[in-house]
Amino acid sequence: MNHEICRLKHTLAWHVEAYGRFFPVSGAESACEDAGQDSTKPEPRAPQSMIESRIPTAPPYDALSAIGTLAELEAWVAETVLIPLDETRIRPVFGTGHPEADLMVIGEAPGADEDQQGEPFVGRAGKLLTKILEAISFSRDDVYIANILKSRPPENRKPHADEIAAHMPILLKQMALIRPKLILCVGRTSGTSLLGVESSLKDLRGRFHDFHGIPVMVTYHPAALLRNPNWKRPTWEDVQKLRDHYDTLVTS
Ligand code: URA
Repeated sequence: MNHEICRLKHTLAWHVEAYGRFFPVSGAESACEDAGQDSTKPEPRAPQSMIESRIPTAPPYDALSAIGTLAELEAWVAETVLIPLDETRIRPVFGTGHPEADLMVIGEAPGADEDQQGEPFVGRAGKLLTKILEAISFSRDDVYIANILKSRPPENRKPHADEIAAHMPILLKQMALIRPKLILCVGRTSGTSLLGVESSLKDLRGRFHDFHGIPVMVTYHPAALLRNPNWKRPTWEDVQKLRDHYDTLVTS
């Protein structure tokens, strides 16, 4: 059977344990606090092993250590069921863009349009994200765009903690393969899930956080901007900071 169904026997127990492993809250928090406004300049590329070491090696995630390309990882994601949403989705939404992008953009989870098309940020919010990127001189092909969850939650509800924990190893593996120099998290769910902190978006935005040596900017989700245009200005300030930092990292 070429459809590998990795059903976890003790799904919830494992996810809870995995969640604890991914989100070592005290370490992540102090890293954020330390980062402050002017985080020290990181190494141009974070060592891959630092991120790889956070991927669990128990089944079914042990398969990830043998994976060496994004195409292999995408195929694994397409044939592996980690959570019930992986069975109810129309298509997995793995990620798109430059396989060696210096900038990685991370959203929350696919919506209806993304579920239909198998591509992240193709709906209304996605079109706004494309405009935001263009405003700081990036095309979608320059960057890599992915989500925390690869499968659509019903009615666009927020991802549950166990779903985030189950899919986080996929995102970590994407990062380990792409090795971005900078990350932009759009939305609170994306920022708090990656950084392992419980903060409001207001507290997270406007400064760089650290994820294993990679500077992370968190800003408003484009869907939130569609609801509340007052947040466009702070978003603009955030992405300009991001572009400036990108220029110092990539062109120097
Ligand atoms: N919102 C997200 O967070 N991701 C998408 O891919 C689309 C909408």
